[in-house]
Amino acid sequence: MKAAVLKAFGSPLSVESVPDPVLGTGEVIVDVVAAGMLAYARDVFSGKRQYLLELPIVPGSGGIGRVRAIGPDATRLSIGDWVMIDPTIRGRDDAVAPDIILQGLTAGTPEALRLQRYYHDGAFAERVRVPTENAVPIGAIDPADAGRWFALGRLLVPYGGLLAGRLLAGETLLVNGATGAFGSAGVMAGIAMGAARIVATGRNAAVLAELEHRFGDRVRTVTMSGSEEDDRRNMQRAAGGPVDIVLDLLPPEASASWVRAAALAVRPYGRVVLMGGIREDVALPYAWMMRYGIEVRGQWMYPRDAIRRLVGMVRSGQIRLDGFTVTEFPLDQVNEAVAHAAANAGPFKMTVVRP
Ligand SMILES: NC(=O)c1ccc[n+]([C@@H]2O[C@H](COP(=O)([O-])OP(=O)(O)OC[C@H]3O[C@@H](n4cnc5c(N)ncnc54)[C@H](OP(=O)(O)O)[C@@H]3O)[C@@H](O)[C@H]2O)c1
Repeated sequence: MKAAVLKAFGSPLSVESVPDPVLGTGEVIVDVVAAGMLAYARDVFSGKRQYLLELPIVPGSGGIGRVRAIGPDATRLSIGDWVMIDPTIRGRDDAVAPDIILQGLTAGTPEALRLQRYYHDGAFAERVRVPTENAVPIGAIDPADAGRWFALGRLLVPYGGLLAGRLLAGETLLVNGATGAFGSAGVMAGIAMGAARIVATGRNAAVLAELEHRFGDRVRTVTMSGSEEDDRRNMQRAAGGPVDIVLDLLPPEASASWVRAAALAVRPYGRVVLMGGIREDVALPYAWMMRYGIEVRGQWMYPRDAIRRLVGMVRSGQIRLDGFTVTEFPLDQVNEAVAHAAANAGPFKMTVVRP
């Protein structure tokens, strides 16, 4: 089959013929129809992000495809089913604290490298082999819409954070870094989940204005100034009342002070969910957390059952995929897709590769 291979960090992907994946028990082979390209894929492939990837590898973290072959353990899947290829692969030998990899993107931790060695290759290929539970049915779709359906992958990340933070309808949500690809999807998911108000923060005034225009009165925006106290005051003012939950999705380039500006805006007994790429430590006041029962937690990706519920939100019209602009590239132009994704980062824009 044809696949894009990363042979060395910093070199372009090489599209070549590689052996077909071989089906094992507990696995599914999927014909990839659309595979998502992250805006920061270039930084992963250059080595700048220092993601744990053993090379050579076929990258590509997730997509939409059709089931080609199923193992004997599958009780519901059928050949030809449309599925989301979920890149979140969990080790099966520890139910309490499983190692997790993102297939074709990162092992996450050194302990998970063994899992990555087995489920090594990702979705920038004609076919991909995944654990049975990672081929998640989405129902019949128009093949032309396969790229747009991978907006699921964009939405699932913040949806996982909002589930972790137990967002309830009628609550006030603050999305930190709402002008970004995942942050803006967090605003969309928060609206669909019934947030009464969403405070959206960012630096890009034009994108903030677009968020207000797109989602209406429930969204109030705050343009970040860089002054932690001023920014926090502006967030609390925009909330017009207590902030119940903060979802942080800032990238590694952002500052810990911006995270703190948002985290400390939460109300007493509120919840703070950290999902971004920040590498420095974020000092949060111990006494404030203790006195006000503040809950702070991290979240990587989303629980398995989130996918089916998100599909339900799309099918019932609570989330509209036509709000996403999709640019598609054939596999032969995968390097153009990497460059395009980097140059077109941000809200509601998606770059996909169609093998
Ligand atoms: N936990 C998980 O499961 C998970 C999954 C996927 C991704 N992530 C993380 O989510 C992060 C965000 O991804 P994304 O694709 O949404 O990023 P993005 O599109 O580049 O968005 C970045 C956001 O951060 C803001 N920002 C603040 N300071 C910045 C700086 N110095 N440089 C660039 N942006 C800055 C941007 O504001 P302006 O645009 O207004 O300037 C924007 O709101 C990723 O870096 C990744 O680490 C986490």
